[in-house]
Amino acid sequence: MKNLFTTEYKPGDKVLDQFVLKRKEIRNTKSGSLFLSLNFSDREGELSAKKWETTQIEFDNLEEGKVYEVSGECDSYQGKIQLVVYSMKKINDLEIRVEDFLPQSQFSFEELKKRILEVLESIKDEDYSKILKFIFDDKNLEKFCKFPAGKILHHSTIGGLAEHVLSLVESAEFYAKKYKILNRDLLISGTLMHDFAKIFEYQISTSFEFTTIGKLSGHISIGFAKILEAGKYVEANEEKTFLLGHMVLSHHGTPEFGSPIKPQIPESFVLMHIDDLDFQINMCESLLKENLTDGWTEWIRALDRKLYLGNSNSNFKNKIFSSENQEKNSKLETLKIKKNDEEDKLNSLFNI
Ligand SMILES: [Fe+2]
Ligand SMILES: [Fe+2]
Repeated sequence: MKNLFTTEYKPGDKVLDQFVLKRKEIRNTKSGSLFLSLNFSDREGELSAKKWETTQIEFDNLEEGKVYEVSGECDSYQGKIQLVVYSMKKINDLEIRVEDFLPQSQFSFEELKKRILEVLESIKDEDYSKILKFIFDDKNLEKFCKFPAGKILHHSTIGGLAEHVLSLVESAEFYAKKYKILNRDLLISGTLMHDFAKIFEYQISTSFEFTTIGKLSGHISIGFAKILEAGKYVEANEEKTFLLGHMVLSHHGTPEFGSPIKPQIPESFVLMHIDDLDFQINMCESLLKENLTDGWTEWIRALDRKLYLGNSNSNFKNKIFSSENQEKNSKLETLKIKKNDEEDKLNSLFNI
């Protein structure tokens, strides 16, 4: 059982608690002795940690992804909480409460399942409907509503996959109304299918991990294969089967990001953009939970940039666009307008 979650610890707190070991590194101090640089997690977040004085054997025996009982003390390093570990012992898998270590979607399993079923029912095109209903059988639907959409980067929660897809369905409905060129049922079917195969790509233990099948094939190829298989089984129109397959194959945009082909129909353009947007905004939301000392995040490799989130965080004290600053800015704007008015009057007097 856990005592406190990672987000509840403060500098000075003594620690005797269970965490998943997320990352391990062994390094040298300036004096040449070895130390461990570690990352622990539970369902609420992560804690970075150090263990001074270690051995190569201790490092080799540590298993990433396993739960450890850790004793130590929290201190502060560069404005962030850091756990100094005195000792750690691996916990037997049977003694672990998985729900303590995996973050959950903001929506319950029942809510997600009900909404996915409603979206499936809303597809009126017979061919897309047949394919989707064949793929979303009871077993797959159950997994779809429990799995994460990403291992680390976005919607990395129990139920995150369905939450992400339902968020995209809302955007897809908006664009299907806005642009008459779009085939709504193809767009919605592609949206439901685009990350469907993550239920085969990931596995859930005390963390989200790739399966061997996932590593070998990836969700795009598996999803495409499932559509072809379903299309054949339910005897769907061949062209529609391949159009739906194209939605899955192209949704990452370019080969550089894992798509073997680029979007080539209007529906796949929309899917690529709404998927990317949902991923980026969800990343921002997750990063807001971190302790941002000056409003800036660390370098985000997936986005190839740092983000400024100081202004999106209502608790952040040093907002450069605080209401006080906004007041000053609007006073400056008023002065500028007055000055421009006076210049205009002078110009019209002298007909410049
Ligand atoms: Fe994807
Ligand atoms: Fe996605």
